[in-house]
Amino acid sequence: MPETAARPPIERVAVLIPTYNERENLPRIVARVRESVPEADVVVLDDNSPDGTGEVADELAAADPQVSVIHRQGKEGLGAAYLAGFRWALDAGYEAVVEMDADGSHRPEDLPAMLAAAQDADLVIGSRYVRGGEIVNWPLSRKAISMGGNLYIRAILGMPVNDATAGYRVYRTDTLRQIGLDEVESAGYVFQTDLTVRTVRAGLRVVEVPITFVEREIGESKMNGDVVKESMRRITGWGVAHRRRQAERLLGRERRWHAL
Ligand code: GDD
Ligand code: MN
Repeated sequence: MPETAARPPIERVAVLIPTYNERENLPRIVARVRESVPEADVVVLDDNSPDGTGEVADELAAADPQVSVIHRQGKEGLGAAYLAGFRWALDAGYEAVVEMDADGSHRPEDLPAMLAAAQDADLVIGSRYVRGGEIVNWPLSRKAISMGGNLYIRAILGMPVNDATAGYRVYRTDTLRQIGLDEVESAGYVFQTDLTVRTVRAGLRVVEVPITFVEREIGESKMNGDVVKESMRRITGWGVAHRRRQAERLLGRERRWHAL
């Protein structure tokens, strides 16, 4: 049914860029976004970065009316920053929001194709794991975590998505209104998987568009053991709950059959 439901045209787009210590990367990525999708607004979500990224963001915003900044108290995780950005964009009346890393891994030049796909989808994922998708300069260890994570998610949750952990996305704001943002507890990178599961479960249309993910050249990843642990804990919990519901449905059917 959602496959055929008419979706309003996407007119206003907000590109959300979360930052923690991305002082050198931020001006470059903002310039590339403004060049690739001049009609889109840019919103930086900074967690009071110790390296002064927040001030750099303020300067960019002062120089360009299409750039703004949400300053947050401190480092509360990628998920928390995005939730703040989503609420802001919902209030401001955008039809779509984009999630994009500040470090250049998500190429703004891929965004026009993703936005085009979003005209006929509820969530577009910039995917590394569909035909044509690619990863440049990731060590084998990181590839193993990412691919292993995605395999685990597909196996335990039975999800028809190849890159459920991806961080380059276009959400229609209508989608965000339907997936229960107020109940989201994921703080770290597992936020991405959490919202993927919610979107699929809501019966909405997810489309994967191939992208080339290019590992950052400047600064450091904020991925760490805690991020991985939170992911494992939550995904396993969702998986167990999912399999329990399936078992209960099967058992219920069996009981009805015996009662005949
Ligand atoms: N505001 C805020 N708060 N921003 C954060 C935080 C935080 O606590 N943690 C990370 N970020 C920002 C970074 O500054 C960067 O712009 C972006 O989020 C991604 O962080 P990275 O640390 O560069 O992530 P990564 O390259 O290791 O991981 C990427 O791939 C993952 C999937 O494999 C990201 O795209 C993840 O979103 C994705 O899940
Ligand atoms: Mn990165």
